[in-house]
Amino acid sequence: MSKAAAIFGASGGIGRALVERLSASGAYSAIHAGGRVAPAGFGPEVCPFACDITDEAGIAAAVAGMAPPLDLVIVASGLLHDSASGIAPEKSFRALDAAAMARVLAVNTIGPALLAKHVLPCLPRDRRAVFAVLSARVGSIGDNRLGGWHAYRASKAALNMLVANFAIEMRRSHPQAIIAALHPGTVATDLSAPFQRGVAEGKLLTPQTSAGRLLDVIERLTPAESGGFFAWDGARIAW
Ligand SMILES: NC(=O)c1ccc[n+]([C@@H]2O[C@H](COP(=O)([O-])OP(=O)(O)OC[C@H]3O[C@@H](n4cnc5c(N)ncnc54)[C@H](OP(=O)(O)O)[C@@H]3O)[C@@H](O)[C@H]2O)c1
Repeated sequence: MSKAAAIFGASGGIGRALVERLSASGAYSAIHAGGRVAPAGFGPEVCPFACDITDEAGIAAAVAGMAPPLDLVIVASGLLHDSASGIAPEKSFRALDAAAMARVLAVNTIGPALLAKHVLPCLPRDRRAVFAVLSARVGSIGDNRLGGWHAYRASKAALNMLVANFAIEMRRSHPQAIIAALHPGTVATDLSAPFQRGVAEGKLLTPQTSAGRLLDVIERLTPAESGGFFAWDGARIAW
């Protein structure tokens, strides 16, 4: 059976490693790989595309370019900091800025939601399929002991709620579909670069290790676990 996958955020550290891993597996005849600029440097089964996740018309056009059904869709895009736009995780509520917060929510929450709107109908109804979003453990309300990073935490907590909601809705029409939020671990990418000094020895994953473990988790998830939030080691994370 020929399978198709789509990775959004394939220009990022984890997204690129996910595409490379899927490509090396030989299990997919088509792997759509998107970034704001179409990412390059992949094998012949990879179809690069350009898509800004904050632009719904662009999302619709990108999805329309993929022949359904899609067996695996992973949203690996995300925003934590952007010095060019003055976006940095807030240490205090005093640092909150409406424009920065709106941008973080647009990229991390609204973009994946609109992507789900267009891509979930492309999942097969008659076999297992997975729609996974890269969330973050800091988006867990139950696990929040340190506080701070208000916009990012809130954007991922809201993303987790959307995942739970979409799973309920999809259960009716696509009983074998799995909708999941995943925490990739603390991974050595541009996103975590300014914060890696505080990471305990041996706890910083390479993008390749994280991608491999995430795909293992995705492989093992069952439809009964749809709507859940899981870490790179397979452990369920509290909402
Ligand atoms: N690294 C970690 O330690 C860590 C920990 C927990 C969770 N996560 C989550 O894992 C995911 C991947 O993170 P990463 O570490 O791989 O980050 P990264 O290397 O900075 O990659 C971020 C990706 O998001 C894309 N992106 C940003 N804004 C976008 C937009 N408007 N439209 C489309 N794509 C956009 C980037 O595309 P461009 O190339 O076009 O900018 C890039 O592909 C994120 O959701 C992040 O929150 C990461």
